[in-house]
Amino acid sequence: MESEEPKPVVLITGCSQGGIGHALARAFADRNCRVVATSRSLSAMSDLQQDPRFYLQELDIVSDQSVQNVVSNVLEKFGCVDVLVNNAGIQCVGPLAEIPLPAMENTFNTNVFGSMRMVQAVVPHMASRKKGKIVNVGSVTVMAPGPWSGVYTASKAALHVITDTLRLELGRFGIDVINVVPGAVRSNIGNSAVASYNRMPEWKLYKPFEAAIRERAHFSQMSRSTPTDVFAKNTVNAVLKKNPPAWFSSGYYSNVMAIMYHLPIFVKDFIIKKVMKG
Ligand SMILES: NC(=O)c1ccc[n+]([C@@H]2O[C@H](COP(=O)([O-])OP(=O)(O)OC[C@H]3O[C@@H](n4cnc5c(N)ncnc54)[C@H](OP(=O)(O)O)[C@@H]3O)[C@@H](O)[C@H]2O)c1
Repeated sequence: MESEEPKPVVLITGCSQGGIGHALARAFADRNCRVVATSRSLSAMSDLQQDPRFYLQELDIVSDQSVQNVVSNVLEKFGCVDVLVNNAGIQCVGPLAEIPLPAMENTFNTNVFGSMRMVQAVVPHMASRKKGKIVNVGSVTVMAPGPWSGVYTASKAALHVITDTLRLELGRFGIDVINVVPGAVRSNIGNSAVASYNRMPEWKLYKPFEAAIRERAHFSQMSRSTPTDVFAKNTVNAVLKKNPPAWFSSGYYSNVMAIMYHLPIFVKDFIIKKVMKG
């Protein structure tokens, strides 16, 4: 009798209920994967607790210690990580000229260095097996950057470049690297963005634009935004392919942004300023 293919082990960051990571965790489990769902707090994933398809771990990607603990726990329990999904990320809304540097650093520490910390923790293991997939979650906003989210967009642009570079550097070790690029997808990102926006200082030059700036926090969360489970199902189908794509973009606005990317800059700026009240 042929032995059954072992179920892939998928490690996902940022799986709080209501967000993309949580929906990805469910979608991978539905495709017969063993899912390590992680979040900064176990209580944010309490609905997954009784389901044996999930191994839940507390993980803060800005902490070396936390990342090392979780990766070694997973290797001890399952012996491998087949897929790493760097999904955890934070918004940062405000005008570039006035956002306090610590808020910028925090955004890059999470979106860029947090993802790199995860990559560096799993690559030695994946390379030793000559097998693995790394999925980084970028953003369509990089295709046509608008005002009031420059820090976030810059961090995601850095992540896009890192993803493309990793693909070239890790291919020789049998590791596929995939850029998942969401359009507008329903999640908690708007509420989290407002919470951090409320901690910003009062704007000086930009005080008259306060309403438009605040609105940016919710921009991806409109009624037409793609439901999280739909986005997750499509993404998981792409990631689990034998030869996964280098780039997978879906969700509301993803087509528009792909077109925007190719427009001359003055046309792009004109449209974006109108839409974002910049
Ligand atoms: N939704 C969209 O329209 C959209 C569009 C483009 C790109 N994205 C990207 O998609 C990814 C998922 O975002 P989302 O929309 O699902 O937002 P979300 O609902 O706010 O989820 C973000 C997740 O990241 C976690 N996180 C933040 N900092 C972390 C840290 N230091 N360590 C570990 N986890 C951390 C959050 O945990 P807590 O619950 O503890 O805060 C939460 O679980 C992000 O990378 C985001 O930039 C989203």
